[in-house]
Amino acid sequence: MELPQIEHVRRRRCDSAASRPTFCNSPTVLVMVGLPARGKTYISKKLTRYLNWIGVPTKVFNVGQYRREAVQTYQNYEFFRPDNEEAMSIRKACASAALKDVASYFTKEHGQVAVFDATNTTRERRAVILSFARERGYKVFFVESICDDPDIIAENIRQVKIGSPDYVDRDKDEANQDFLQRIEVYKTCYVPIDDEKDRKHSYIKIFNVGTRYLVNQVQDHIQSRIVYYLMNIHVAPRSIYLSRHGESEFNLIGRIGGDTALSPRGQKYASALATFIKSQNIKDLKVWTSHMRRTIQTAEALGVQYEQWKALNEIDAGVCEELTYEEIQEKFPEEFAMRDQDKYRYRYPKGESYEDLVHRLEPVIMELERQENVLLICHQAILRCLLAYYLDKPADELPYQRCPLHTVLKLTPIAYGCKIESFYLNIEAVCTHRERPMNVDTNRKPEDALQTVPDHI
Ligand code: ADP
Ligand code: F6P
Repeated sequence: MELPQIEHVRRRRCDSAASRPTFCNSPTVLVMVGLPARGKTYISKKLTRYLNWIGVPTKVFNVGQYRREAVQTYQNYEFFRPDNEEAMSIRKACASAALKDVASYFTKEHGQVAVFDATNTTRERRAVILSFARERGYKVFFVESICDDPDIIAENIRQVKIGSPDYVDRDKDEANQDFLQRIEVYKTCYVPIDDEKDRKHSYIKIFNVGTRYLVNQVQDHIQSRIVYYLMNIHVAPRSIYLSRHGESEFNLIGRIGGDTALSPRGQKYASALATFIKSQNIKDLKVWTSHMRRTIQTAEALGVQYEQWKALNEIDAGVCEELTYEEIQEKFPEEFAMRDQDKYRYRYPKGESYEDLVHRLEPVIMELERQENVLLICHQAILRCLLAYYLDKPADELPYQRCPLHTVLKLTPIAYGCKIESFYLNIEAVCTHRERPMNVDTNRKPEDALQTVPDHI
């Protein structure tokens, strides 16, 4: 799927007669709304990771962090009482400082989306943000999380709040009590987004971790993608297992691409993978492969049903398919050098780039967000793209992620991120990883193109 090109710099004014700036591609301030422990920071971080991965420069501005810098030792919930005037002016100043940084992110760092992560629970605070955005020609999209399930709140506090910087060296029960009281003082002035009064604004309301949604006035493509993403994510515990196919006949002789079968060691890996997966006792595991022989053969050894996804096929190296890196350098020296200069954006003649892969894989990520336990058996370049999404790696580092053969990567969501475990299944394989060249040079010899030792991460 091809994304419409999003301008990174706002250059053109559509309406030169207007008194305030109106840009063709105005940046968006995404404003979180909700009581504490409603998943606002979780959603902010996750959405930011997704938007950056699909190529939309996005950054979170967490007002809590500004507050912690302004007031280094947090005492207790009284700080958040609406009648605590001194604290209130500090909180206002923190919000203004964060908004100022949002503006500078858009103008100086070419940001496209800023996530304003604070409670924003009063109409007054939201009005300040709206007028800040209106004056500068930014779009505003509110994301409100409403949750009244005490078990979910208790679990959220346990997972992320007790260990927050506010409660370093505090007794856990005491921290828990204080946090509950903090929520109570916020409740005294919380005014949710109003379906009638706010009907002209753009927003999504998420009820009880996505059991219901209310979407209003979606203004553009980015907002529609944000809505779609938010409607697909869930927080149920699960793990995603990522593996490359077993070593293939082409891997063995250093040729890229093609559609060859597994080598004898690759077949051994397929059996080892079956044993490993059994040992993990995974509930309702789904297995996905590409349309290529080497992933299908690997999955066959598991003896379970699997689903084939064309979107998981390896990068198409176009005119370089089935060549070794040495042959590519010899036949197409300029192409070889260009790839080293910008491996993420470089597109093989008649083939694909890593950037193309990210767009091809977007529906896979969306479906993974909807699923629970899944094992993906895919390919080196594909695995790098998926890993970059889960581990929040920038585009420039993505094509150099280490994804060795015969190694399972287990990803488990924790707190605001993802835990990664690596299991090398002890079957030797060639290494197909090419290091990022130190000095990009057209005449460089690809001496590190193919090694014969397994490498583990
Ligand atoms: P807040 O920023 O609102 O204070 P956090 O983001 O720190 O809350 O809370 C994180 C917890 O919220 C995580 O345990 C996550 O599972 C949970 N969570 C994620 N999405 C939601 C949601 N829509 N509603 C309630 N809790 C959620
Ligand atoms: O060498 C194995 C392989 O999966 C090739 O089919 C593919 O072209 C290559 O890895 C991708 O890795 P890189 O982008 O580092 O060339």
